[in-house]
Amino acid sequence: MPPGNHDRDGFDTREKALNTDATPQQQSAGPATAWWTEAVIYQIYPRSFADANGDGIGDLPGITARLDHFVELGVDAVWLSPFYPSPQADAGYDVADYRDVDPLFGRLADADRLITEAHARRLRVIVDLVPNHTSSAHRWFAAALAATPGSPERARYVFRDGLGPDGDQPPNDWSSVFGGPAWTRVTEPDGRPGQWYLHLFDPGQPDLNWDNPEVRAEFLDVLRFWLDRGVDGFRVDVAHGLIKQADLANWQEPQEILSGNEVDKPRPPMWDQDGVHEVYRDWRRLLDSYDGERILVAEAWVQPAERLARYVRPDEMHQAFNFEYLTASWTAPAQYAVITRSLEATDAVGAPTTWVLSNHDVVRHASRLGLPVGTPRPNGIGVGDPQPDAALGLRRARAATLLMLALPGSAYLYQGEELGLPEHMTLPDEVRQDPTWERSGRTERGRDGCRVPIPWEADAPSYGFGPTDASWLPQPPSWAEYALDRQRDVPGSTYELYRTALRLRRAHGLGRGGLYWLASGDEVVSFRNGDVTVLTNFGATPVPVPAGAQVLHASAPLPDDGTVGQDVTVWFRAA
Ligand code: NOJ
Ligand code: CA
Repeated sequence: MPPGNHDRDGFDTREKALNTDATPQQQSAGPATAWWTEAVIYQIYPRSFADANGDGIGDLPGITARLDHFVELGVDAVWLSPFYPSPQADAGYDVADYRDVDPLFGRLADADRLITEAHARRLRVIVDLVPNHTSSAHRWFAAALAATPGSPERARYVFRDGLGPDGDQPPNDWSSVFGGPAWTRVTEPDGRPGQWYLHLFDPGQPDLNWDNPEVRAEFLDVLRFWLDRGVDGFRVDVAHGLIKQADLANWQEPQEILSGNEVDKPRPPMWDQDGVHEVYRDWRRLLDSYDGERILVAEAWVQPAERLARYVRPDEMHQAFNFEYLTASWTAPAQYAVITRSLEATDAVGAPTTWVLSNHDVVRHASRLGLPVGTPRPNGIGVGDPQPDAALGLRRARAATLLMLALPGSAYLYQGEELGLPEHMTLPDEVRQDPTWERSGRTERGRDGCRVPIPWEADAPSYGFGPTDASWLPQPPSWAEYALDRQRDVPGSTYELYRTALRLRRAHGLGRGGLYWLASGDEVVSFRNGDVTVLTNFGATPVPVPAGAQVLHASAPLPDDGTVGQDVTVWFRAA
């Protein structure tokens, strides 16, 4: 912590802290026209966004019909989680055909229409790419099962003989991210128990063998397929997992769901191997051969930040999700440290930083932040689990969002967070769909609670999610109050908080700005970005806004004395 920055009472607009006469952290990288360096990108989880045909599952026509929502909200792009043909063993992250649309979600023509209609509104469209594994229903896996050990069909995946005299022990001790072993034994075409295949996730998600040139060629072709249809980029699933250490050495550690490797431990043999970068260099060359600025976004749970920054070197991907930020504690020192570290790490490779608080794999931040500070991030919350303080969670979530949207770089929003939506924390266990619940022996609730269809109209069936009451996961009765139509044009609502923040972010060029720290103590962080000063108070003692300052935006109403209360972020222009 820099000297002089612990003293909250001494907070004023004198730039007494870091970087005051130095260069700001994080100048925008890339050409001035590079939209993605400062973009706000909204994640659509298709099965839960909007259901056009009333079967209870969101679909592409539903999204297209709601595209004006993104214009009204003020985001730059949408990213869609997978909508490809899939048995849905992992909600579509088990892809059976990379070049089509699952009938659940529509048809290929619906994807084309969505892209065209989005572009007509100046919205970019990013699709999900799942290269680490296919579905077990993919034609390649069917061919591998029908073929013999050592065949070219099996060489597209990671098949090995088992250990022990009968080969009935898995080839190594790796466990699946969803629980249980990472290997499943197959029955050979002759009916005998045979080899084992690797699946770092569900058995329905066999890992591909990225040392095989055929796999590399196939995915370059899949990229071309979607680039030719006009998509603006790809969010790359499990980007740190494609290459495994050649000897598949034992690891002994249990897998934690989507945890990064610990900084002080050796790198696991299945994650963040150096060989993955060659794959992304090939992809970058392909994207650069297309017009426009098409982007690659890494989903890579990799720590420390310097290791993650390797994915966004100039000839690799454009962005990587900043999960260290998502997982940082809600304290001033933790927030200061993660913001500083993130900016330093990406500045070192000339890439913009990204920021994210929620997605379809984690407890929504309006609930997560209502847990006592220091609580380990839960993998889902259910009946009988410690329940967060809802009001506190929302208050902190609003403050966290306002802090995030003032940071230079690109920010990701997850559908429903603009409504202040909490996690569904009383979902009956019988309706859970996340494979984590069963595979963990019913010890980890998993991710269903953040995937519940979102509310649009308070008084409509399924809160306007679709034309009927049907909803693939039940919506809690309390969600009417979060519906969009209860919040639109209502001063102080979370929806209007987001809209105003996004408008001001654009007007003040915050995404392409720089960051000058003004204060970073035990209870306050404050920085300047262009002509906007941002202050978040984590402590119980109110902090005065400097005399004469013009308050631009605040995450909660400021009292008459103009002070900033606990768990509040304010944006102001100094006098
Ligand atoms: C990360 C995705 O975000 C998650 O939802 C999925 O289960 C795993 N990758 C496996 O594809
Ligand atoms: Ca539907």
